[in-house]
Amino acid sequence: MGRKLLTEHINVPGIDSFEVYRKHGGYRSVEKALKTMTPDEVVEEVKKSGLRGRGGAGFPTGMKWSFLAKPEGVPRHLVCNADESEPGTFKDRHLMTKLPHLLIEGMITSSYALGANTSYIYIRGELLYVLRILEKAIAEAYANGFLGKNILGSGYDLDLHVHPGGGAYICGEETALLESLEGKRGNPRNKPPFPAVQGLYARPTVVNNVESIAAVVPIVNDGGEEYAKLGVGKSTGTKLISACGHLNKPGIYEIELGVPVEEFIYSDEYCGGIWKGRDLKAVVAGGSSVPILPKELILKTAAGENRLMTYESLSDGGFVTGTMLGSGGFIAMDETTCIVRNTWSFSRFYHHESCGQCSPCREGTGWMEKVLHRLEHGHGHMHDIDLLVSVAKQIEGNTICPLGEAAAWPVAAAVRHFRHEFEWHVTNPAEATRPGAYYSSKAAVVA
Ligand SMILES: Cc1cc2nc3c(=O)[nH]c(=O)nc-3n(C[C@H](O)[C@H](O)[C@H](O)COP(=O)(O)O)c2cc1C
Repeated sequence: MGRKLLTEHINVPGIDSFEVYRKHGGYRSVEKALKTMTPDEVVEEVKKSGLRGRGGAGFPTGMKWSFLAKPEGVPRHLVCNADESEPGTFKDRHLMTKLPHLLIEGMITSSYALGANTSYIYIRGELLYVLRILEKAIAEAYANGFLGKNILGSGYDLDLHVHPGGGAYICGEETALLESLEGKRGNPRNKPPFPAVQGLYARPTVVNNVESIAAVVPIVNDGGEEYAKLGVGKSTGTKLISACGHLNKPGIYEIELGVPVEEFIYSDEYCGGIWKGRDLKAVVAGGSSVPILPKELILKTAAGENRLMTYESLSDGGFVTGTMLGSGGFIAMDETTCIVRNTWSFSRFYHHESCGQCSPCREGTGWMEKVLHRLEHGHGHMHDIDLLVSVAKQIEGNTICPLGEAAAWPVAAAVRHFRHEFEWHVTNPAEATRPGAYYSSKAAVVA
C-alpha cells in the first residue's frame, strides 16, 4: 500500500468537523509555521519538497511562490483555484467535501508563507454543496482562533473568503478566474504581467490548485525533504487521481507518484482492471485536454519501458508517442469505445466553453466540432480528417490562454493514433452510424 499524505483520515467519521480533524493532528502545520518558522522558511520547505502544481501544468510550487512580488505597503493575495471543470477530473471536490479543514489549514499556512492577509477560495458555481461545507468549516476555524486577527497569538492576521463562480470552465484559467473574482466577465488576461506581479485587484497574487495547497500541510509537518523522498525524479510526493470510464473500480486514489500505469489500471489496490472482462483500447491520462494514447503506448513508452504515473514518464515521447499527467483525470476506454464519437463529444465541450475572445479558438473549436459531427454521422470525407489536424494546428499557440491547446490536442492526438477509425467512418458510413457501433481491430464492425 502506498503512503497517504492527504487522505489518510478521509474515512474517519466526522472528519469534516473541526473537533475530529484537530484530534487527528489537524492544524499542526499552522502551529508549527506561525510559532516556529519565518514565512521564508515555509517557502524554503515547499521548494525542497519538489511539489509541482496539481492543477494541470505541473509548475514547481516553491518556485512560483518565490516569484511573488513584494513591494512595500502593497497587499498580496493567495487564491485557491477550486473551479475543477475539466471533464474527467473530480478530485478537488472530493477533498473539499470530505476534508474541508485540510484545505483551510493549507490556505492558512500558505497565506502566512506568502504574506497574504486576505485569501480566497474560488469554487465552481455548480459545487454549491461544497461551498456550504467550506463555509461551515471556515466559521469553525474563525471560532477556534485559526482565522481572523492575531492567529494563535502570533500577530499574523488572515481573512478567508469562499467565492462561487458562474459555472464556466474558462474561469479555471487563472487570469480568467481573477477577472471573475473581481466581478467581471471571465476572460483570460494577456500575460505579462503575470499574477505574481499584477493579479487580483492588480496586486501580487499566487493562484494554486486545491490539491497543491493541501499538500503544503504534510510538507510543513514533516519537512520538504521527507515529502521529496516519495515519488520518482522530479515527480515527488503523492497525487490524487480521479479514475473513471470502463474500469472495475473507478474512484479517487491517492497514489505515490511512480506507480506503473499497468499496475494502476489492473491491480486490485487501484482500478481492478477493465470492466466486463473487456480489453483496454485507450486512455486519457490527465483530463480531457491531454492527448489520448492507445493501450500499447499508455502501458509502455515507445522505447518499450514501463510507463509510470509521473510527469516525466507520461510525457516521454512528446506528443508523438506520449501525453501528460495533467490534473490527474484518468479516463479508461474499453475496446467498444468509438474514438470518433468520443472526440466529437470532447470537442463539443471545448466549443461550448471557449470564451470567444481569440478568433482561432472561437472559430476553430466550432469548425472541429462541425467536422467531427459530420464524420460521426456518416457525412464525412477523407479530406476532413486532415482538415481537423490543420484546424487544430492553427489554434495551437495562437490564443491568449491554453484553452486553445486544450481543445486542439485531443483532436490532433485522436487522429494521430486512431486515423483508421476516422477513415472507417468515411468508407463505411452505414455501419459506423449504427447505434452502438464501434471500430475494433479484431472485427472491423461491431454494433
Ligand atoms: C481552460 C483552463 C481551465 C483550467 N482549470 C483549472 C481548474 O479548474 N483548476 C486548477 O487548479 N487549474 C486549472 N487550470 C490551470 C490554472 O490556470 C493554473 O495553472 C493553476 O490553477 C495553477 O495552480 P497550480 O500551480 O497549483 O497547479 C486551468 C487552465 C486552463 C487553461
